[in-house]
Amino acid sequence: MSERWTPDSWRKKPVLQVPEYPDANALAEVEAQLATFPPLVFAGEARNLKKALAKVAAGDAFLLQGGDCAESFAEHGANNIRDFFRVFLQMAVVLTYAGASPVVKVGRIAGQFAKPRSSPTEKQDSVELPSYRGDIVNDSAFTAEARVPNPARQLMAYRQSAATLNLLRAFATGGFANLASVHQWMLGFLKDSPQSRRYQELANRISEALDFMRACGLDLESHPELRATDFYTSHEALLLGYEQAMTRVDSITGDWYATSGHMIWIGDRTRQLENGHVEYFRGIKNPIGLKCGPSLKPDELLRLLDVLNPDNEAGRITLINRFGSDKVNECLPPLIRAVQREGRVVVWSCDPMHGNTITSTSGYKTRPFDRIVSEVKSFFAIHAAEGTHAGGVHLEMTGQDVTECTGGARAITDEDLNDRYHTVCDPRLNAEQSIDLAFLIAELLKRERATRARPLPAASGL
Ligand code: PEP
Ligand code: CO
Repeated sequence: MSERWTPDSWRKKPVLQVPEYPDANALAEVEAQLATFPPLVFAGEARNLKKALAKVAAGDAFLLQGGDCAESFAEHGANNIRDFFRVFLQMAVVLTYAGASPVVKVGRIAGQFAKPRSSPTEKQDSVELPSYRGDIVNDSAFTAEARVPNPARQLMAYRQSAATLNLLRAFATGGFANLASVHQWMLGFLKDSPQSRRYQELANRISEALDFMRACGLDLESHPELRATDFYTSHEALLLGYEQAMTRVDSITGDWYATSGHMIWIGDRTRQLENGHVEYFRGIKNPIGLKCGPSLKPDELLRLLDVLNPDNEAGRITLINRFGSDKVNECLPPLIRAVQREGRVVVWSCDPMHGNTITSTSGYKTRPFDRIVSEVKSFFAIHAAEGTHAGGVHLEMTGQDVTECTGGARAITDEDLNDRYHTVCDPRLNAEQSIDLAFLIAELLKRERATRARPLPAASGL
């Protein structure tokens, strides 16, 4: 693994989850074209995110990461982006205010297109076709033609990412994210829910706090942090040909950066030490995530950290745990202990989605809200017991009023799933469930901070 790294050195290693493109020349042409396109993000932004994540690793901030399981070409529109961003901001405000913690905001957006699949084929009745691998690869329609990987889709994914990012940047800095608008972020359909009342109350308290500061003579307009927010993008960097084409040298430091998103992560299915994904990730300087599922053993994790973060740089690694509510108590403590014992600096983040997926009696892939909540609670309890910081959450969520995860305040049932089940991949929390979860996490965060703030017991006689 100590061989020289280049953006294409991953090609010499085994690579899993590779689509079978019928025309290798067409693929190479697309990749060559992508390599001439402007970067989507800048190295300096990725470095800022790394610094923010270093604060999370130190226990001084919380990471909120979330968005679609898979972005789709069909759902690309301003309303979707706005509704996602709005609910994400609401969650961030809940966590910042009720949880009294700075929040690092990272969307699963503007590049989250490629999907790893458990099986290379999908069977419906007696017909077997190649699996859908995300809109950047093929089409989800169940026809032989739609499922053929088409490289031109990478150009569409790039363009969609650029347009999405453009709007997100405008929202983040152009006035939409102004804290004074905290009331205007209310979502219409949230109006009569318990979440909306709680959120209104919190918004009122924030407005009062702002009024108080104004009355004290503070010029709030001169504080950019109240008018704008830092928002970063992330995705699973699964399709390495695309990622390679978007890998560029930073002119300031001379280092290589993935410019397809600020943070990228390695999926649970592609994190083998000797394989191509780990090889690609070790050479880029962005902050990176590593999905940790039940099969990851502590010594394997330490070897991955050796390769992916040899200098033990704070903010470089986020370990995204996705064990399932029934396995987290068994799987997480040994990993935490190994990391602590070896003095590795990481952000611990909880993905309570991917270990809690079930098939409902109506045949839909779903996730019971109770299990999601249960895994998050266990995550906080385990970190409290180990004396480490429950650093963040990683969620699949949308700003839309979908019915994809069961339970929550409106008690969505198996039968309701059929009403508005829109995801092209995994089931997402809807806006209400997302806000509900944010309030719960805020409580857990507040508790964690209260415990940590307590003065240490007096040392015996010294
Ligand atoms: C995902 O995040 O959508 C995903 C496929 O996760 P994992 O790699 O944890 O299964
Ligand atoms: Co998913």
